[in-house]
This record gives sequence, C-alpha cells and structure tokens, in this order.
Amino acid sequence: MKAIICTKYGSPEVLQLREVEKPIPKDNEILIKIKATAVNSGDYRIRKADPFAVRFFFGLTKPKNILGGVLSGEVESIGKDVKRFKVGDEVFGSTGMSFGAYAEYKCLPENATLAIKPNSFSHEEAAVIPFGGNTALFFIKKAKISKGQKVLIYGASGAVGTAAIQLAKVFGAHVTGVCSGANIDLVKSLGADTVIDYTKEDFTRNGMAYDVIFDTVNKISFSQYLKALTEKGVLILASAGISEMLQGVWTSMTSGRKVITGVISENTEDMIFIKQLMEEGKIKSVLDRTYNLEQIAEAHTYVEEGHKKGNVAIKV
Ligand SMILES: NC(=O)c1ccc[n+]([C@@H]2O[C@H](COP(=O)([O-])OP(=O)(O)OC[C@H]3O[C@@H](n4cnc5c(N)ncnc54)[C@H](OP(=O)(O)O)[C@@H]3O)[C@@H](O)[C@H]2O)c1
Repeated sequence: MKAIICTKYGSPEVLQLREVEKPIPKDNEILIKIKATAVNSGDYRIRKADPFAVRFFFGLTKPKNILGGVLSGEVESIGKDVKRFKVGDEVFGSTGMSFGAYAEYKCLPENATLAIKPNSFSHEEAAVIPFGGNTALFFIKKAKISKGQKVLIYGASGAVGTAAIQLAKVFGAHVTGVCSGANIDLVKSLGADTVIDYTKEDFTRNGMAYDVIFDTVNKISFSQYLKALTEKGVLILASAGISEMLQGVWTSMTSGRKVITGVISENTEDMIFIKQLMEEGKIKSVLDRTYNLEQIAEAHTYVEEGHKKGNVAIKV
C-alpha cells in the first residue's frame, strides 16, 4: 500500500511517499481502507520533534510509526472476533497513539475511538472532526461547562476552537469567541454569541469576567487570563507548557479557581456522542483546505503557519 513515511525528524520534506506492506487485521481488529485523513497541529510537532521529549515516545532518531492520527474510510475486512463493525461500514475516528493514518490502510481494534460515519458527511468532512472534537469535549467535560455559564474561547478559529464553540453551545453556555478579524464571520456562524477580534480589542481589559476560559493557542500570559476569570472560574489551557502547568497547580491549590491542563484521553463513547451531534446538525466540519496524500509536505507547511481556519483534510 502507499503510505507517507517520516524519514527523520525535521522540515516537511522528511515526509516521503513510499510503498509499504498492507496490514492484516488480528482477530479483534478491523482493516479500514482510508479515504481521508487530516493534518493537525499535533502532527507537525511530532514530525519536527518539538518538544525534544517527542523522541522518547515516538523514536529517538525518527518516528517509528507512520504519522496521522485521524481517519475516515470503509471497513474492508474484519477479524473473526469482531462484533461491532461489518465489512462495508463507513467509519471515522482516531487511531490513538498508534497513529498510521497517512496511508491507504489501517488496522484498529474494534473498541478503538471509532464511530459509524454519518451519511451527510463526506470522508474529508468526517476525518477532520475527531481531533478538535475529542480534544474540546474532553476539556469541556472536565470543566463541567453547564447551562448559562459565560465561556470564552481563545483561538476560536482553529481545529480545537471551532469544535469548542459548537460543543460549549450544546452544553448551554453563553459563548464568546476570540479570533482575528478575518475569522469573525466563521466564529459567529458556529454559534458564538459574541466575537472579539484580538487584533483590535484586549478581552482582559474590557471589564468582563468569565466562568470558563478555554485557551487553545497559548498566546496570552497566565496572569492576564486570571484577570478575566471569575473568583471560582475554570481556566483550560489546552496547549500549556511546563511553566503554565506549574502555575496552574499553584493557582488551583491556593485559590477558588481551577486550572485544567495536560494531555487528553479519547474514548469510544465520546466519539459516538460527537457522531450523534453531527447527525443532529449540532456539529459541523470546518474545512479550510484539502490536499492529496502526495501533497502532505505542502499541507504540513500550511498547518505549521498556525493560521488555518478549522482544519486541513487529506484525500487518500
Ligand atoms: N492537551 C492535549 O491533549 C491537546 C490535544 C490536541 C491539541 N492540543 C493543542 O491545542 C492547540 C490548538 O490546536 P489546534 O489544532 O486548534 O490549532 P490550530 O488549528 O493550528 O490553530 C490555528 C488557529 O489559531 C489562531 N491563532 C493564531 N495565533 C493566534 C493569536 N495570537 N491569538 C488568537 N488566535 C490565534 C488562528 O487564528 P488567526 O488566523 O485568526 O490568528 C488559527 O485559526 C495546539 O497547541 C495543540 O497542540 C492539545
């Protein structure tokens, strides 16, 4: 099968199209013929080993696995113990820490973070949902966002931000999205009640206090965030570094505020919940660009610029 191999850590050119062996499903696995995947912010961080610690998890000199953490495709064959899926099912979801979605085929256990793809979504539209969707849902559930709460989402136009707006609305919050001027209409169209253009207005100085601030891009200092948080507010830092994590632990211990950081975990129930929301029209895909598998280096270059609108899909 065709796959993108990461020949070493480095610039997008290290991603090379190669012929590799097609995987065979084990008894509890399904073989998925991948129709679409996506390039997410996490993918380029692994490709360039940023931070250095990436090497301890993925391989010292180059990633051991094919990259790509999300997929949408069709079940081509199943192991003898598989009950949840049948040949021909259209599925989408995350590959978890095994990655491997930059390829024509992937085997996953039937209890992986997968769901049946809604018919109204194309494979490209479905493939871009799990990364932002699962990340946003994990943090929203941890923060226990509830009806009527004032929630501010900073970095509202990225993969995590666009999912966070839609999910916070599902949980009944009053949502303020912060993005640049070019993305105001997009953020409004996803359901944000108020939109702030960060190039024109500093939301930490407008006198408002939010019950939950969900930061997806780590561009504002910790102390600035605290200025705009209620006394018992929750601060979610999806891309916190070590320094913010330590400040978060201290703030959670010494005040009525709670700071949530760390790495998300994904599960099948959340994926199915998101799928239901997609079918109900409460979650839509935000697709900025679509590239072919052969153009993956180009897609990485674009995503790494840090200004994509929602997501970038890859047609396999
Ligand atoms: N904790 C976890 O387990 C976990 C899981 C998944 C993701 N993450 C992290 O979540 C972060 C967000 O991921 P993502 O995929 O959503 O990122 P992304 O899609 O690459 O974010 C792009 C968006 O960021 C906005 N942006 C850039 N600079 C900004 C600034 N100064 N102020 C406000 N917005 C700005 C851009 O809007 P403009 O063009 O308008 O500036 C763009 O729409 C990443 O750091 C990722 O590593 C963490």
